[in-house]
Amino acid sequence: MFDSHSKAKKYFDKNVENYWKRSEAQVKNFSSMIFQRRIDIVENFLRRVRKGTVLDFGMGPAVFGSSCISQGLRYIGIDISPEMVQKAKSLNLQNAEFMVGDIDLLGVFRNKMDAVLCIGLLDYLEDPEQGILALADCVKPDGYLILSFRNRFSLPRYLRDVLKISLSVFHQCKLSWQKKAFFSEVHEKAFDYSTQLNPKLVHLGFRDFEVNYFNCSLFFFNFPLPSWIWRKWRCWDSQLASQRTRFLCSGGVIVAKRRQGDIP
Ligand SMILES: C[S@@+](CC[C@H](N)C(=O)[O-])C[C@H]1O[C@@H](n2cnc3c(N)ncnc32)[C@H](O)[C@@H]1O
Repeated sequence: MFDSHSKAKKYFDKNVENYWKRSEAQVKNFSSMIFQRRIDIVENFLRRVRKGTVLDFGMGPAVFGSSCISQGLRYIGIDISPEMVQKAKSLNLQNAEFMVGDIDLLGVFRNKMDAVLCIGLLDYLEDPEQGILALADCVKPDGYLILSFRNRFSLPRYLRDVLKISLSVFHQCKLSWQKKAFFSEVHEKAFDYSTQLNPKLVHLGFRDFEVNYFNCSLFFFNFPLPSWIWRKWRCWDSQLASQRTRFLCSGGVIVAKRRQGDIP
C-alpha cells in the first residue's frame, strides 16, 4: 500500500465519528454546510440512475447508501478504513454490501456498474489519474460516473494554500490546527474541470457532462454557525455557486455518461 494511502486509512480510522456527525449535519458549522451542499448535488445526479448497482468508492460511513437504496438501487461501498466500513455496516442497510479495500480491488468490477461514485476521494489517492482510470473502467456503457473534486483555480483554494504554508512555517500553530478534520494531514490535490478532468474523461469515453460547483465564498476554514444561518447559507450557496462564479467556489461535482463501444 502507498504510504499516502496508509496515512489516509489511519486518519479516517480515527475520525469516523467526527465525519459521521458532519455528514449527517448533526453539527452545524461551515464544514458540515459545505458537506450538505456536496451531498445535495450528488443525490440530485444520482436520480439519473434508474436501475442496477452503484459502486461507492471511498464511501466513508456509506454517505449515499440510504439514498441509493431508497431509489431501488443496489449499493456496494468500498473504503480503505476498516472503521468506516464497520460504521457503514452498523447502519444495517438492506441491499447493500461493504468491503475494505484500496484501488487494486476495482479490477473485479470492470464494466459491471450502472454508476460509480467517487466523492471526496481524489485528494487521498497517490495517483489520482490512475484512480480515475480504474473507476471509469468499472462503469458499464451508458452508466454514470459521479466524481467530486477540489477546484484548483479558485480563491478559497488559494487562501487555503497560503494558510497551510504559513501553518507549516509556524509549526506550533500547525499542531493545534491539525486536530480539526477540516485540515487533514493528507495532501489536498485540486483539479481544474475544463483543462484536466473533462479532457481526461472524454478520452476515457465519457459524454453528456454536467458540473455543479459548491461553496461560493471567501471562507476556507471551519467555524460554528447558528442553525438558521446554516440553513440559509446552504440555500444561498445553491443559487450562487455556478459555472460563472466557479472562481469563487472551492469544489465541484461532475456527472458523465459512458459511451457505448470500445473504451481506449
Ligand atoms: C472525505 S471521505 C469521503 C466519504 C464519502 N464518499 C463522502 O462523500 O462523504 C474519503 C473516504 O475515502 C476513503 N479512502 C481514502 N483513500 C482511499 C483509498 N485509497 N481506497 C479506498 N478508500 C479510500 C477514506 O477512508 C474516507 O472514508
